[in-house]
Amino acid sequence: MTMSDMTDSLSKPAGQDHRKSAQFVAEKSCPQPNSHVAKSFAGARELLRSPDVRQAGGEALRMVIDNPDHVSFFFLDGEVHRKRRASVAGYFTPKAIITRYHPIINDTMDALIAELQATGTGILDEMALLVAANVTAEILGLECAGDPLGMARSIHEIRRTTDKAEAERLRDLFYDRHIAPAVEASRKEPKDDVISYMVQENYSKIAMMMEVSTYGTAGVSTTREFIGMAAWHLFDRPELKQEFLDADEAGQFAILQEILRLDPVTSFLYRKAEVDMPDAAEGPIKAGDIVAIDLRSANLDQEAVGECPLAFDGDRAEKVRNMASYLNFGDGPHRCPGSQVALHETRMFLDRLMRVPGIRLEKPPVMNLAANTQSYEIREAVVACDKV
Ligand code: HEM
Repeated sequence: MTMSDMTDSLSKPAGQDHRKSAQFVAEKSCPQPNSHVAKSFAGARELLRSPDVRQAGGEALRMVIDNPDHVSFFFLDGEVHRKRRASVAGYFTPKAIITRYHPIINDTMDALIAELQATGTGILDEMALLVAANVTAEILGLECAGDPLGMARSIHEIRRTTDKAEAERLRDLFYDRHIAPAVEASRKEPKDDVISYMVQENYSKIAMMMEVSTYGTAGVSTTREFIGMAAWHLFDRPELKQEFLDADEAGQFAILQEILRLDPVTSFLYRKAEVDMPDAAEGPIKAGDIVAIDLRSANLDQEAVGECPLAFDGDRAEKVRNMASYLNFGDGPHRCPGSQVALHETRMFLDRLMRVPGIRLEKPPVMNLAANTQSYEIREAVVACDKV
């Protein structure tokens, strides 16, 4: 019996499966061919925490790392990775979230809600994109040229372009418009952001572009999709929406983590084994093997997350206290540094949106698959409210 068979049969008594993206992702995406798939929670976590594996996601295995100081830390491992992570830790502290990002989220929500109420309708994922883009632009210290949405769209477009020459042209445009002015400003007056760090460390133009794209994917796209998914859950289940609105901050975070457990934005993380791992919990792994860590399956492992794993359970976090955020944001040295930023953005977005008089989902979203990350995209959802 596979683990997903086990979870299916175990959740049947409750008869509830609250996942929205499972079928879509199962039909459209699969782990890389020839990879060793880790499905259990314990096995997945063991691999993510192991010092004997290296990053194999994205372009990691094709990259030539001649100067680790100028490569996005997503692609690094070991001591160089630890050092680089330490250098960005300040952008993700509770203090930075409250003093730097809360005002940005609040201002963005003021503008978005005012526009929504003036027109009576809005596109959910575009609204989410603006919040995620504004916060990430602040972390990076990018020059938005008065158009943060345009900036976020450009990053998205560069990532989606498969034509090399076109991608290069778009990258150059992006550099001239958004990075070069920020670099110039930082030379005159350095700030506490990623651009200033890169200027101080003499990053090349290509290295800067790579770092910005990593944040664009890791910080903007993921949060945009998660806000869309979480909103969809709340719109579909009025009792859950009410529970969310009645909860305190910790309760709202627990609801969001439970939604993300059921519908994780990231399906697979990849690692390459550096040595033979004969005793791995997922069965023997050989040096050089690629392991696909299946976050969806791991997050449904009832050994870790408790009974009825396919059902939303607002009290689950209390019952399995030691699991905290499951594997929603990965684990081990590469665990998402922006998890708290993302949770704050999503919580504040939904708390404001769901309180707007007359708010409703006029048109449910369609799901697309993001080709390079294999994650779902939530698009075309239209929200409507009373006009004022
Ligand atoms: C709901 C939103 C988000 C989700 C689901 C998410 C998920 C993840 C996951 C699963 C990883 C681990 C990758 C791996 O182990 O290979 C990761 C890494 C990362 N995330 Fe997030 N993330 C989110 C939001 C953010 C935000 C808002 C930022 C920053 C503004 C961010 C920045 C990063 C970075 C820089 C990494 C690479 C870390 C490293 O390799 O050490 N993420 N994210």
